[in-house]
Amino acid sequence: MAFPIITAQEAAEYVKHGDNLGISGFTAAGTPKVVPAAIAEKAEREHAAGREFKVNLFTGASTNDATDGALTRANAIDKRTPYQGSGDLRAGANKQQLNYFDLHLSELAQKIRQGTYGKIDVAIIEAQSVTDEGEIVLGTGVGNIPTLAALAEKVIVEVNDQIPAEIAGLHDIYVPLDPPYRREIPIYTANDRIGTPVLKVDPKKIVGVVNTSASIGGGAFSPVDEKTMRIGNFVCDFLLGEMKAGRIPKTFLPLQSGVGNIANAVLASLEANPEVPVFEMYTEVVQDAVVNLLLSGKCKFASSSSMTFSNEANKLFFDNIDKLGDRLMLRPCEISNHPEVVRRLGVISMNTAIEADIFGNVNSTHVSGVKMMNGIGGSGDFTRNAYISIFSCPSESKAGAISNIVPMVSHVDHSEHSVDIVITDQGIADLRGKSPIQRAKEVIENCAHPDYRPLLREYLALAKGGHTPHTLQSAFAFHTALATDGTMKAAKF
Ligand code: COA
Repeated sequence: MAFPIITAQEAAEYVKHGDNLGISGFTAAGTPKVVPAAIAEKAEREHAAGREFKVNLFTGASTNDATDGALTRANAIDKRTPYQGSGDLRAGANKQQLNYFDLHLSELAQKIRQGTYGKIDVAIIEAQSVTDEGEIVLGTGVGNIPTLAALAEKVIVEVNDQIPAEIAGLHDIYVPLDPPYRREIPIYTANDRIGTPVLKVDPKKIVGVVNTSASIGGGAFSPVDEKTMRIGNFVCDFLLGEMKAGRIPKTFLPLQSGVGNIANAVLASLEANPEVPVFEMYTEVVQDAVVNLLLSGKCKFASSSSMTFSNEANKLFFDNIDKLGDRLMLRPCEISNHPEVVRRLGVISMNTAIEADIFGNVNSTHVSGVKMMNGIGGSGDFTRNAYISIFSCPSESKAGAISNIVPMVSHVDHSEHSVDIVITDQGIADLRGKSPIQRAKEVIENCAHPDYRPLLREYLALAKGGHTPHTLQSAFAFHTALATDGTMKAAKF
């Protein structure tokens, strides 16, 4: 069966108002590029003609500007889940222009199979190739597309000739059975292959193939600066200390690392430190730093749901595919983030916080408790099940107007029960085995910026009674001072 070759505009005609769309990929990697943009153009035409047109987007994680950006600007999104990273979508969610709901990345596929959000009307898949039998070699990200494609009534395949043919073989596509038939996910080491290298889709559902040459790489990260390097070095010191104390085996344990500049700095520190042994990664996303780690052999294997690389890093990776092809595996995010596997492998999680409080609760998602930043992503999947869970953040942000260590977080994503270690550019707070008051002293003295330590000590001294002492009237004094005076330094208790 040869599939019709159609334009992106023709593909968009298969999408109707109110449809649930399943989008391939994880971050911009593996996300279709031209069909979503054509759907946004269609939405604008429909709106100009006085007709309603909105769709619901189910993705792996964040997407690209052609998807979340263009569709938000066209006011074409009703529901959107899970993680996002688009400035436009963030603004739309915070204005309540669209209905964004955030959930743990490992959970979406099963919830979709349960029928929680209704049927999937159209799946749009970025692919390196598709055979007449419906065997698809995916692009650089997988996300939730195995479930979304299996359930979709119609499938559109966007074949991108910028994806090197050598990507074939990197994917491991596996969908678990649902309860009560679920068995163990048979991953016992980070590099266990449990599925197929291609995504199999019923060819009768493929309504068309769109060809494109759109660029697949993303932008590069900011270079590591002094502050992020200090955080990276503290993380490295902590891990080495745990190894020397015998709490991490000499063979080391797989690492999960979030995205962003701090995560990049942590990986750079691990690479630079000769005492850190060769390690593996069991993570949801690998970024540029990991290509160098794989090339140097410092990281011997990375399991991920996407290769979120810049164009340069993509080139470096595929130029060295002979060496690197068996050192990287791309899995659905249901598997890359699966709590069972994370707990079994003893993954050490390393994520970034917006703010942490003195007792060890972490806010990853909401600025000043109300404004959505990006979403929880996989941080909860990993943190709650990690062998050791680490959160890092700068001690202060916005030129010192914000202390990232506060008396009480304004929104809780990760509770004190799940957070083992907090690291800032000031130092390391080890919260394990400590009572709330002991944790508070450790966080204030080791992690808070010196400018904010007196205020935090004052808060703790005034806080009365109980196991976790707080004064509820002034628990958010830092946040209210920021709102009224433009700086948390004006906090009064
Ligand atoms: N209040 C207000 N703004 C804050 C803030 C706070 N408490 N803390 C940080 N910010 C601002 C920073 O100033 C920066 O703003 P800018 O872009 O205008 O410079 C921005 O938030 C990003 O902060 P940065 O320190 O550069 O961190 P980051 O890029 O590493 O992002 C998170 C931090 C928490 C937003 C990001 O890691 C995230 O979305 N995490 C949730 C998902 C996750 O953990 N996934 C894990 C697996 S990938």
